[in-house]
Amino acid sequence: MEVNKCLLLVLALFLLLGTHGGEAQPLVPAVLTFGDSSVDVGNNDYLYTIIKANYPPYGRDFKNQVATGRFCNGKLATDITAETLGFESYAPAYLSPAASGNNLLIGANFASAGSGYYDHTALLYHAIPLSQQLEYFKEYQSKLAAVAGSSQAQSIINGSLYIISAGASDFVQNYYINPFLFKTQTADQFSDRLISIFSDTVTQLYGMGARRIGVTSLPPLGCLPAAITLFGHGSSGCVSRLNSDSENFNGKMNATVDSLSSQFPDLKIAVFDIYTPLLSLVTSPESQGFTEARRGCCGTGTVETTVLLCNPKSIGTCPNATTYVFWDAVHPSEAANQVIADSLLAEGINLVT
Ligand SMILES: *[C@@H]1O[C@H](CO)[C@@H](O)[C@H](O)[C@H]1NC(C)=O
Ligand SMILES: *[C@@H]1O[C@H](CO)[C@@H](O)[C@H](O)[C@H]1NC(C)=O
Ligand SMILES: *[C@@H]1O[C@H](CO)[C@@H](O)[C@H](O)[C@H]1NC(C)=O
Repeated sequence: MEVNKCLLLVLALFLLLGTHGGEAQPLVPAVLTFGDSSVDVGNNDYLYTIIKANYPPYGRDFKNQVATGRFCNGKLATDITAETLGFESYAPAYLSPAASGNNLLIGANFASAGSGYYDHTALLYHAIPLSQQLEYFKEYQSKLAAVAGSSQAQSIINGSLYIISAGASDFVQNYYINPFLFKTQTADQFSDRLISIFSDTVTQLYGMGARRIGVTSLPPLGCLPAAITLFGHGSSGCVSRLNSDSENFNGKMNATVDSLSSQFPDLKIAVFDIYTPLLSLVTSPESQGFTEARRGCCGTGTVETTVLLCNPKSIGTCPNATTYVFWDAVHPSEAANQVIADSLLAEGINLVT
């Protein structure tokens, strides 16, 4: 915690030094985001899918209580990160009508809830597969060049921060519940498959000009309220089998990031470890000001609906989510996202300086 605070101070200092004529300059020209519901800022609002969050009580703690499509009561960890980097408005959604004109200059968000590394996961939920998100990124590049001119577009593309956050849906909403997968391959083999797609994705992004890439680790999947309900055999503790799968995946992710880093010497790439801060919140919530780590604020602590989300009829939504680690059965609350974002910044500082 102390280390994080110190780094945030350093960051704030950079922001001050970057100030021209009273306007703080963001540390990077833009933020571009790919992945699943952990980072979707509303792309799914425009899709024909059941995995949406554009209705109450999602977004309850935003000013005007607007349900933007974020799977949270408020800000996502990446929103908080973008703010700390100096962006006044969050990186816009790409598919949304708002993502036009000058908004393109501060980035785009291609993420789609229900998506994953494995395109099959997205197809199951009518979400946007990662491979299609990369196609949208190509389109974005042409639009950007039209707005900014090709030379400025080039420096935006190579100076921007790219965030990839995926993998949890591949396991929770696909592998663990899909006999065609869990009966034909081990979690270790499935991880290898996902990691290989991740590696390809980075190689493609690099080919398209990306030079600063941060990728999130898997969270402790066994501590998600939905996972405890579905796979905990009646126990209320984290499911250790699932946490082992996360750790195994994360170890592979670390090794792959190291190898990508030596393969592309001018690429800055880092793992944002969300496993450690989230596990620590779940195992010792009180020490960090939280009171509830088992139940999501929204809902009953079991599987809320078939798609694991809350809805306007969810009973028992807690009055104040600030002391809840989880907002719904799978997604952290804004308060937990703040803790995760602090740790993300500490790990990502080399990417943006
Ligand atoms: C990024 O693009 C700018 C503008 O074309 C160029 O000057 C700079 O060398 C590029 N940087 C990298 C790391 O490719
Ligand atoms: C991955 O690397 C990070 C940072 O070096 C480390 O904190 C974490 O424990 C590693 N994770 C695994 C599962 O090896
Ligand atoms: C929730 O609780 C926190 C501290 O416990 C307090 O600062 C905040 O104002 C409360 N929010 C609402 C909406 O009551």
